[in-house]
Amino acid sequence: MEITRVAVVGCGTMGGGIVQTAARFGFATVGIETSTAAATAAQERIEAGLRATADRGKITQDELAQALARITITTDFAAVADADLVIEAVFEDVDLKKKVLADIDALVAPGAYIASNTSTIPLVILAAATKRPESVVGFHFFNPVPSMKLVEVIKTPVTEAANVDVLVEFAKALGKSPVVVNDVPGFIGNLLIVPYLVDAIRAFERGVADMESIDDVIKLGFNHPMGPFALSDLIGLDIVHDMAASMYEEYKDPRYQPPTLLKQYVRLGWLGRKTGRGFYTYSS
Ligand SMILES: NC(=O)c1ccc[n+]([C@@H]2O[C@H](COP(=O)([O-])OP(=O)(O)OC[C@H]3O[C@@H](n4cnc5c(N)ncnc54)[C@H](O)[C@@H]3O)[C@@H](O)[C@H]2O)c1
Repeated sequence: MEITRVAVVGCGTMGGGIVQTAARFGFATVGIETSTAAATAAQERIEAGLRATADRGKITQDELAQALARITITTDFAAVADADLVIEAVFEDVDLKKKVLADIDALVAPGAYIASNTSTIPLVILAAATKRPESVVGFHFFNPVPSMKLVEVIKTPVTEAANVDVLVEFAKALGKSPVVVNDVPGFIGNLLIVPYLVDAIRAFERGVADMESIDDVIKLGFNHPMGPFALSDLIGLDIVHDMAASMYEEYKDPRYQPPTLLKQYVRLGWLGRKTGRGFYTYSS
């Protein structure tokens, strides 16, 4: 099936960026949220993102208007029914994702593709929640979606090769550089980055140095654009926590175990940039 209509379930940090990118590159895109307030906030963020793209001269005013016209944000889950591809981008919670994938499966056409933006949950678990596991593909964008080039395209032992190919072409149509990865928790990116973030938090807990100094070492010594604390704030501390917990659950390796400080910050609602407070404090 050719992909022309896309639905995105969950329009937070990642889903909002996916809606923005799909609409910019010509796809009629519907975004689903759980409440009117969340839908309105998503619509505003997506519009602001597209306007900023136009302000930087990357799209014309005409292209901006066309992209905006391709977007519908709704709280009506049934709107996924018309999509050729549904991308799930809800919280990193396995039970929630299984339910969302089963609900999508029940609504979309037989040939439609179902993708999950999960960072760490084994894709087989999500594929098995549907009656079309061969059509379920992992589609792991990086944050911020509009500017990051990489998409990890994840296949399980039952994913049909032709469906992987379709998703690879779709990623290219969004201006991305896809990398096909087998279904291991964390895929490639988070398999490597999550223990690094967890190690940095533990180094701070042990009193090795303050957060700024640890970030400076990584920025200045290794030419990374940001250090582990700034990166965790960008990702979202809840997401970092959930990724670590989910990989610990799978590997039972202590280097994935969420550190106490991370748990405390999440419990306080200090989730990073999206809440204005994480390891660092952000003005609006
Ligand atoms: N944040 C990152 O850097 C990053 C990077 C790559 C992948 N991911 C993955 O993307 C997914 C989403 O992460 P995020 O950072 O966008 O989270 P987020 O908290 O910013 O957004 C999640 C959104 O899903 C919505 N939602 C929850 N349940 C829903 C439902 N049943 N129907 C519709 N919407 C629902 C919430 O209202 C929220 O807006 C997670 O699986 C995460 O692991 C995150």
